[in-house]
Amino acid sequence: MNAPYERLEQLEQEALAALESAMDSGALQEWHRLYLGRKGELTSLLRLVAELPEDERPTFGRAANTLKATLESAYEQRVETVRRQELERELARGALDVTLPGRPLGPGHLHLTTQTLRRIYAIFAEMGFQVYEAPDVETDEFNFELLNMPPHHPARDMWDTFWITDKVLLRTHTSPGQIRVMRERYPEPIRVILPGKCYRYEQITARSEHQFYQVEGLAVGHGIRMSDLIGTLTEFARRLYGPDRRIRIRGSYFPFTEPSVEADMDCILCRGAGCRVCKYSGWLEIAGAGMVHPQVLRNGGYDPDEWSGFAFGMGVERPAMLQYSIDDIRLFYGNDLRFLRQF
Ligand code: PHE
Repeated sequence: MNAPYERLEQLEQEALAALESAMDSGALQEWHRLYLGRKGELTSLLRLVAELPEDERPTFGRAANTLKATLESAYEQRVETVRRQELERELARGALDVTLPGRPLGPGHLHLTTQTLRRIYAIFAEMGFQVYEAPDVETDEFNFELLNMPPHHPARDMWDTFWITDKVLLRTHTSPGQIRVMRERYPEPIRVILPGKCYRYEQITARSEHQFYQVEGLAVGHGIRMSDLIGTLTEFARRLYGPDRRIRIRGSYFPFTEPSVEADMDCILCRGAGCRVCKYSGWLEIAGAGMVHPQVLRNGGYDPDEWSGFAFGMGVERPAMLQYSIDDIRLFYGNDLRFLRQF
């Protein structure tokens, strides 16, 4: 084989090797200029044709053209590859990839507590109760004193308290709202519920959180009696848990009601027969309640000789736990979506 042919083969190997090591578009341009450009290697090789005997020239010409075509298609391929690599490098640096499919945005839903609260609001709304909101940060006066618990009253021990200063605290129950509504509404009759978060300085366990919701109820009017309280709670339980629910009243003690009671409902699981949920008593506690104490009416501006009223306070999480067989109250506010998504 003679020199021009050898040169041709050499050039092919050299050019293809150089192409493989061209890593960016600048290097590719340079390569193209060097091998395929007007003053490039291939062009100068074609000039060697003149040195060949006449009858070999067509063969050499064809071989040179084949090489040109080979180099051009190798170049096109390499351009594609390098472009893709450049794009990948850019993406790796954090640039936006508009070709990525979007992330689905699932619709959210209401928290189980909010759902439960709204069911409670709807039922009491049908019975003529308005929703009234009172502050979470309360004073000793409203949380205790005006509810018949002067400083050092032993009943204060029923509520372990988060104190902010020695006169300011996080409400331990929604009952201070009773005084606020009365002072705002006097001399009108009252029928309200007061939902909200309560706070207790307690050990957190599966059964008790230090933050939880209550719904307070308050009715003040002329001639309101215990039977109105029992009727209201019975109607509420039936609308929330089914028409054949029964309510039981037990004597109890709260400083701000007289008489005071505890209201139970027959167990939603065993319907009174006794089971694990009701601890084999057949009954579930739903509210602390009673007739508003005369002194509390007076503190709210209502004369107890003319006015009377009932009040109740019920938990929100516990009934939801019973309904859905949730065995740990901490799940409510643990922000674990696997739990929350179920409701
Ligand atoms: N505030 C009481 C509690 O937290 C419940 C209650 C409210 C009792 C209204 C009587 C009347 O335990």
